[in-house]
Amino acid sequence: MGKVYAAVLAGGIGTRMGNVEKPKQFMEIGGKPIIIHTLEKFAVHPGLEKVLVLSPRAWVGYTSDIIKKYIPMGADIPVIEGGPTRNETVMNAIRYIEKDGGLDDDTIIITHDSVRPFVTHRIIEENIRYAEEFGACDTVIPATDTIVQSIRDDRIDQIPDRRFMYQGQTPQTFHAKKLKDTYEALTKEEKETLTDACKIMVLKGEHVHLVQGEVFNIKITYPYDITVAQALLGMKVEG
Ligand code: CTP
Repeated sequence: MGKVYAAVLAGGIGTRMGNVEKPKQFMEIGGKPIIIHTLEKFAVHPGLEKVLVLSPRAWVGYTSDIIKKYIPMGADIPVIEGGPTRNETVMNAIRYIEKDGGLDDDTIIITHDSVRPFVTHRIIEENIRYAEEFGACDTVIPATDTIVQSIRDDRIDQIPDRRFMYQGQTPQTFHAKKLKDTYEALTKEEKETLTDACKIMVLKGEHVHLVQGEVFNIKITYPYDITVAQALLGMKVEG
């Protein structure tokens, strides 16, 4: 079994959250920054070699400070500069692992959105297990709404059968070296079509296994999601 690294991705600036003073991962819910709620889930997870945090360049110092303030052993969590796209942020994490001497064929990387604070122990555990068994995995829930595809002119092109549709969440977990090699082999055009890290593997026909997510494993994207997150915190969703 290879080493398992977790990369908590906070390299974005949260444009859809609107005009707020800090990127959304630093906004507080329940008296703590969102990213701290997320990190707590990984910091206590047994068997992780290291938890890494990727943050926008201007926020690296700030991120380190809050981690030290809120997380016991927070000084052991490196904060690394993110990249211009989410996948470039993931690549920065893998480059760090390489420099750290931890990158070999068996090394696993669990990538997780810093703004999904309700991830569970079970989801993390299954991500590690399935990535080891199948090479890569993605956390999903069955689509609740019918998905309508419209490519142009405000008209429907297709309505795919909802039984086969899922909504992607995170974590997404990979053999780190294979993910990096596969990404680097993509053309510039292929890289431009990527919306998430799993698509890197899917484009090359690789097996990406499904892990069952949770409806409450929401991504905080819009101001509305802050209200939902406050309510979920009050419900103590993981029991
Ligand atoms: N992310 C990242 N590096 C980037 C872009 C995004 O690490 N270059 C991270 C975000 O910080 C977030 C996660 O990827 O935790 C999911 O992305 P999203 O919700 O789209 O975050 P933002 O890009 O920050 O938001 P927006 O799209 O509204 O600008």
